[in-house]
Amino acid sequence: MKNNIKFLILIFIFYTNLLPFSVSNSKKICIIGTGYVGLVLGACLSDFGHIVTCVDKDKEKIKELQNGKIPIYELGLTEIIYKNVHKNTLKFSDEIEKEIKNAEVIYIAVGTPTNPDGETFLDDIISASILISKNLNEYKLICIKSTVPIGTNKFIKEIIQNNQTKKVNFDVVSNPEFLREGVAVNDFLNPRRIIFGIESEKAKKILSQIYEPFIKINIPIIWTNFNTAETIKYASNSFLAIKIAFINEISRLKKLGVDIKAVSKGMGLDNRIGSEFLNPGPGFGGSCFPKDIEALLHKTRSINENLKILEAANISNELHKEKIFQNFALLFNNNLEGKIITILGLAFKANTDDVRSSPAITIIQKLKESGAIIKAYDPKAMKKMAQIFPDIQYCNSTYDALTNADGMIILTEWQEFKNLDLEKIYKIMKNPIIYDTRYILDEEKLKFLGYKFPFSDL
Ligand code: UGA
Repeated sequence: MKNNIKFLILIFIFYTNLLPFSVSNSKKICIIGTGYVGLVLGACLSDFGHIVTCVDKDKEKIKELQNGKIPIYELGLTEIIYKNVHKNTLKFSDEIEKEIKNAEVIYIAVGTPTNPDGETFLDDIISASILISKNLNEYKLICIKSTVPIGTNKFIKEIIQNNQTKKVNFDVVSNPEFLREGVAVNDFLNPRRIIFGIESEKAKKILSQIYEPFIKINIPIIWTNFNTAETIKYASNSFLAIKIAFINEISRLKKLGVDIKAVSKGMGLDNRIGSEFLNPGPGFGGSCFPKDIEALLHKTRSINENLKILEAANISNELHKEKIFQNFALLFNNNLEGKIITILGLAFKANTDDVRSSPAITIIQKLKESGAIIKAYDPKAMKKMAQIFPDIQYCNSTYDALTNADGMIILTEWQEFKNLDLEKIYKIMKNPIIYDTRYILDEEKLKFLGYKFPFSDL
């Protein structure tokens, strides 16, 4: 009996080590770029058993990573990095050329910002491609993870071909990522689909080895060409942004007495619509949706095509932030001069410290212009917001921020804001005025306690 249990335990350990998340054919991988994508990718691929080196031209950042300092807040990332550094399957280096030479597979995960016109700056991706090209000592697979305009993978392949010092074969793969900040590790380990734009069977074989754990559990994979893979990425982000812009517009029907949460639920229960990304808020933000929409519009304009629905999504998103502010100002009869206003939530969404294109930036700017005195609290994003607005008051806790406030506005759906003690807040605020732009509080309770909020009289 004892032996049987031992045997079962051994079988369990054997299989949990092999399935689902471990590879039988480990690859030497170099990842260029240690931003959100590069770090999560590096950490997770090393966790599969690949030997990964993350490199970056920012030597300071690499030094910090080598010292165990993780530059971003991302759920579970620190743990997975520490675990794999300890196992020697993950390291950080600024010796980019050496690591390119050592690797069998190279990922490019550098930033691709856009200018105000929507044109994508490809400078970093071009530099990385030239560096790879000059250090191609044997066949390598080069995967493009960065979000790049349609046609860029083809262009990168040409750059590499044209700058090779040694003529060896290589393959380029378009492998867009679909990670969401805040849940990126979980998204990586539980992908809904994987997209590969490829041009050779050899590339397909290597990719199948890298992603073996996903193939074992039948994650859908689409093998296609470069331009299609690039388009899937842009079309996905654009569609999600349109969905959010749409529900945000519908949320403004609240002034007709409409319960937007019920509308969202009622729509989402239809599988053809789906319930995800149907939560109204203060407008979409972040480093992807606004940028990717502009980039796709820029690209399509160059072929004389107008994507009107997409254009409208960005315009609608800007208008929505304006409306959010107007609704709030209305609670003060449009006079915010000298009013103490508390902002709860600065990050563009919960579980991240990222404030890029956060709706909070627009709202703070407008409040400042109206003469309000701003107190703010966010569990993670205050440091980053202080770089944009050094002159507002950052508080240590929600309740600190709310003491003596004339009004408050919730902009990020952090879990701790969902559990606010509304009785306590009612007592510590000077005026019980609340605008919950994320619909996370119980409106019936707010009404019962005597809070004033937009259209509370309906
Ligand atoms: C987005 C995509 O969701 C990822 O699949 C993609 O990989 C990523 O961009 C990227 O291109 O790198 P992310 O920007 O991290 O991910 O954030 P989301 O979770 O998509 O949220 C974007 C914005 O929409 C946030 O401001 C969020 O608050 C808002 N949102 C989202 C809503 O207002 N309502 C919703 O129901 C969902």
